[in-house]
Amino acid sequence: MQTFLHGRDLIGDLDFTKEEVETVLDVAFDLKRKRALNEPHAYLRDKVLAMLFFFSSTRTRGSFEAGIAQLGGHGAFIESRTTQIAHGDTPKEIGEIFGRYYDGIAIRHVDWGVGNKYISEVAKYSRVPVLNMQCDIYHPFQILADLMTIVEKKGRDLRRKKMVVSWAYAASYQKPMSVPQSLILQMPRFGLDVTLVHPPEFRLMPEIMDQAEAEAKKYGAGFEVISDPDGMEKAFKDADIIYAKSWGAMVHTPDPEEGAKIIKKYSHWITDERKMALAKPDAIYMHPLPADRNIEVTDGVIDGPNSVVYDEAENRLHAQKAVMALTMG
Ligand code: CP
Repeated sequence: MQTFLHGRDLIGDLDFTKEEVETVLDVAFDLKRKRALNEPHAYLRDKVLAMLFFFSSTRTRGSFEAGIAQLGGHGAFIESRTTQIAHGDTPKEIGEIFGRYYDGIAIRHVDWGVGNKYISEVAKYSRVPVLNMQCDIYHPFQILADLMTIVEKKGRDLRRKKMVVSWAYAASYQKPMSVPQSLILQMPRFGLDVTLVHPPEFRLMPEIMDQAEAEAKKYGAGFEVISDPDGMEKAFKDADIIYAKSWGAMVHTPDPEEGAKIIKKYSHWITDERKMALAKPDAIYMHPLPADRNIEVTDGVIDGPNSVVYDEAENRLHAQKAVMALTMG
């Protein structure tokens, strides 16, 4: 167990070592147990977290705000449009000034090519931990909750379990690629054999792919990539975990209109009962939500017996409380 995470930022998934992530999991399970037993756990009494949002949220806002309150502190919900950021406050001002008011700064900024740079710049000037509530590259807290959920459903020894990270069709908007990128970085460290599958235009960032491959090699896990207009069925075969969600074609084209046109070619990339039947009978279905119901995934799958999406959403609370307690305490 690693016991000194005080003052640390969590921006990219690999910012914490595997042992540090194990510590987060241990603390998260303990906090989940304490909440179930109604045991007080005010490890952050009088501490305040700034929660700065440049993009909408249901789960991230709810779980961070409830989590800091349950730890005895307070979450200040700040929408960027209500600040002076549009009138000249730079990331330096946010890091320097919020770092003097608050005990932690959590930021969501998913704009392609902008979000991660913004959060990293704030961190450069902040004297308190900076937590990434999702950027254009990473969604580390989602993945900690996902890992916790996988451990609950499949046990702590995940070696040789097959996890499919699949692109899925959704026409609502070009969603960030932070979830699949964070999944392929974190999951191989815990022994999962990851199969990434997507149509050719939906490839992930090359530097993230290189890092994921290196992590898989380091931890003796498999990492297979299927880039095929009809690859979903092949990938789902004999899977233990299906994690299928949509993301945009930003690496292929920076033009959102062209990206939207490309997405339309792949409406058959829906997770339905027929495709789920290709996976193992006890395979779990995961999605970070929000999902485009009956477009990205059928009601039958997302509401069916193999779906763990609400446990996944709940675990956001426990995983985030663990990181806040460890870094801000
Ligand atoms: N999964 C997730 O981050 O949900 P929100 O966008 O609602 O925060």
